[in-house]
Amino acid sequence: MIEIVITDSMQGEAYVEFVLDSKGSKNIQKAQEFGFDGKGQFFLQEKKTLLVCIDGRHVDFVREAGANIARFFKSLKFGSIGIKAFGDEALDYALMLGILAGWQDSGLYKSNKKEYALSKVYIQGDSALGKVAKRAKIVAKSLYIVRDLVNTMPQVATPTYLLQYCKKLAQKRDLECKVLDTKDLQKERMGAYLAVSRASVNPPYLVHLKYKSKKPLARVVVVGKGLTYDSGGLSLKPSDYMVTMKADKSGACAVIGILNAVAELGLHIEVHGIIGAAENMIGGDAYKPDDVLFSREGKSIEVRNTDAEGRLVLCDCLSYAQDLKPDIIIDLATLTGACVVGLGEYTSGIMGYNEVLKKDFESCALQSGELMACLPFNRHIKKLLESKVADICNIGSSRYGGGISAGMFLGEFIRDEYKDKWLHIDIAGPAYIEREWDINPSGASGAGVRAVLAFIENLESKQDSKKSKSKKA
Ligand code: BES
Ligand code: ZN
Ligand code: ZN
Repeated sequence: MIEIVITDSMQGEAYVEFVLDSKGSKNIQKAQEFGFDGKGQFFLQEKKTLLVCIDGRHVDFVREAGANIARFFKSLKFGSIGIKAFGDEALDYALMLGILAGWQDSGLYKSNKKEYALSKVYIQGDSALGKVAKRAKIVAKSLYIVRDLVNTMPQVATPTYLLQYCKKLAQKRDLECKVLDTKDLQKERMGAYLAVSRASVNPPYLVHLKYKSKKPLARVVVVGKGLTYDSGGLSLKPSDYMVTMKADKSGACAVIGILNAVAELGLHIEVHGIIGAAENMIGGDAYKPDDVLFSREGKSIEVRNTDAEGRLVLCDCLSYAQDLKPDIIIDLATLTGACVVGLGEYTSGIMGYNEVLKKDFESCALQSGELMACLPFNRHIKKLLESKVADICNIGSSRYGGGISAGMFLGEFIRDEYKDKWLHIDIAGPAYIEREWDINPSGASGAGVRAVLAFIENLESKQDSKKSKSKKA
């Protein structure tokens, strides 16, 4: 990672100038003499200055520009650059996060690792920015962790690998780490989860991480779909759709990144991370369409498609999660292609029963820089999950509304007292895109991390002001 240093004077071997109004900048006029059209960025050699045009003082533009600055200087020989701060905390945070998150390379397995000259970014601004820089660094580091894990090939990144990673992280960040192996999952009667993983030579693990704050203001449980590979099972995916299915563990990896961040930030919220790691494979022992599974919540499930496996793992994990008596329960999952068709690749779907909670989460996500939109449940789609042989079917009987029917399937495993406390986030679109976009390199993005963090931090400050109000009263 490159280092960000806050300074009171302009430093660095080269500079960056943000341009909001091209007419007001002398450097832009110079650049125009060289044929610059005033859009995007231009490096003015004689001033060693990268001119960066943005459409306005908006965090989204600044964040993306930050990433593009980092990418640009990869090809030059400067060891350090200097940028003047905006003097606005949100914009300066966006700038720093953009630089750090945009700096990460894809190409984990290239033999010729690129070496870059740039190692320091000086931000000229108030010393109070040091705190902002620290937060940007923690969040960026968490994104790096998630992206590296998700990009790791499925031959290596098995459920055991995720488990070992969690154990190491738990030690480093002083988290509790409880592990449920196959025997434990049997004891817990997690019949749906176990069926999915049965044909794999790599055994499943449910990992339960816990960050215990000293004075917790609330308890949040985050559950992640951790399919280290999704071949589709006997309802085998066509070859073209199987490629990138190493990324079906993105929800679980996001949970790991979130736990890293909350621990480093020292938030006053108790956060549990539940990782449902398994591999969906084929074999003589594979679970089949026509099988009926018995879930931990006691509901029987008719399997009609083994490629709708994520919801089977999650329904048992959500059951376990509710036993922890959470104030909020959020699951993150690359659950459906339908959600990607509906919202596009860059946007995650937010589902649940509590309209206020959904809207609240959406606004936290958008503020954090992640695109998310609410998808509405309805009673007609719920009917599509009816089964003639069991309590529920693992796919809807219509090919439409697949993102919502998957969400409503999960909803059937949420007990009445938790219905209003639960959110399902389908990150199938933005979790993994084979093309660089926004602050993300091609491959894994770390989707879900920023949104959930923003939500938890928002919850922390809401609970905190509630507490101080009740003290006064
Ligand atoms: N892991 C996939 C969903 C997915 C698709 C994630 C594309 C990322 C990108 C999930 O397990 C799956 O296969 N879902 C099926 C459900 C269907 C069988 C009802 C789907 O979306 O096609
Ligand atoms: Zn699947
Ligand atoms: Zn899947």
